[in-house]
Parts: sequence; C-alpha cells; structure tokens
Amino acid sequence: MHEGKRSKQEGAAVIHHWTVRLWHWANVASMAIMVPSGWRIYNAAPIWSGFVFPRDYTLGGWLGGALQWHFAGMWLFGAGLSLYVIASIVRGHIGRRLLPIHIGLLVHEVRLAMRGRLSHTDAAHYNQPQRLAYLSAMFGLLALVASGLVLWKSVQFPVLRELMGGYEGARRVHFLSMCLVLGFVLVHLLMVMLVPRTLLAMLRGR
Ligand code: HEM
Repeated sequence: MHEGKRSKQEGAAVIHHWTVRLWHWANVASMAIMVPSGWRIYNAAPIWSGFVFPRDYTLGGWLGGALQWHFAGMWLFGAGLSLYVIASIVRGHIGRRLLPIHIGLLVHEVRLAMRGRLSHTDAAHYNQPQRLAYLSAMFGLLALVASGLVLWKSVQFPVLRELMGGYEGARRVHFLSMCLVLGFVLVHLLMVMLVPRTLLAMLRGR
C-alpha cells in the first residue's frame, strides 16, 4: 500500500510503510550497539593518540567482546538496510519521498526553519531540509558500510581500500562517517521533540 492512501479497514492514512518502520527501528537498535562497541574498538588502537572514548560510554568490556557486539549489530543493520533498499526499489519510496531537492526551495525553507516558521503539518510529506538531512544520513550510513567492509575484509575489497587511502584511510573514513551519522541523529532527535506526533506515525505507521 502506498503512503497517503486511505486504509479501507481503519480509515487512517498510511504515513510510513511497515518496511520503512522496521528498517528505521532496526537502525536505532543497531546504532545503539555499533556506536559504543565501535568506540571500544577504537580505544584499543586510537587513530588520534591522546583521544579515547570514556570507558563508561563503550560496550563490550574488552576488544574481543566489543568486536562480537559490533558484528552482531552489523548483521541487524545489514538485514534492515537490505529490506529498506529492496522495498524502496519496489515501491519507489526514495524517489517519491526524499527527492527531488530544489536548491532555491531548500534555502527558502532553511531560512524559515531558522526563524522557527517552517511547518511540518503533513507528516506524509517531507520538507526540503528534512530530505537533505535524511539523504545525508543515508550517505553517512553508506560510507560507514563501505569503510566497514574494508576494515572487515580488507583483502576482498582492494579497490574500495585503495580509494580510501589504504586500511588506515578507511579507519578515518569510518570514524568521520560515524561522526556524520551521530550529528544527524542529534539534530534528528531535536526535530522529533519539536514535532512529537511524527514519532507516533513512525511507530504505528498511521
Ligand atoms: C531514538 C532515536 C530515533 C527516533 C526517536 C527517530 C524518529 C524518527 C521519526 C519520528 C521520523 C519521521 C519524521 C517525520 O515524519 O517527519 C524519522 C525518520 C527517519 N529517521 Fe529517525 N529516529 C531515530 C533514530 C534514527 C537513526 C539512528 C537513524 C539513522 C542513522 C534515523 C534515520 C531516519 C531516516 C533516514 C528517516 C526518514 C525515513 C524515510 O522516510 O525513508 N533515525 N525518525
């Protein structure tokens, strides 16, 4: 069923298809596992000497434990992402919901947002700053996946590895993509707090 279509059984508009919701909440769970376990893995061999994450905010206890958590989260993340990609291709979700982005309209809506005047009355329609934020998050997630593949199976992905400047380069790409995704999540949560009814739609779909 497409978003915005009236449900004959319940008479409520479908705002988020179940595949989008399942992917979304699988993402939240996998990020909650992968970020703190990734921090513990980072701490075992810091890229920037002198900078480590506080132990209390890490997951896994020791390097081996953190790797186990990170891989477990990876399978959950991969399953959710595969579902989202397949469902998006079948249903045309990304093209319909997240595209296009018009630069002029984007600048206009960002200005409105800065003055606190950007409305989000129709939950089935994303405004331009939302589209850009969601696409940036997806870009960050894809960069996480690509660099993660290099770190996990370096020999099997030589082209990706060289594109990122080798194994150490891939570690930096992985770290910076994590920062991008966390930056998105921070702003995302603030936005959800400003329009809390969108949370209900992401939970119930209607
Ligand atoms: C507890 C944490 C989170 C909450 C409460 C939350 C909540 C929401 C809500 C309410 C929406 C719908 C916004 C609207 O209709 O205007 C949404 C959409 C979205 N969220 Fe989250 N979110 C969370 C974490 C995340 C994370 C960790 C990611 C990815 C790293 C993420 C990525 C997205 C994306 C890409 C969309 C657009 C989905 C689409 O239509 O394709 N969210 N989120």
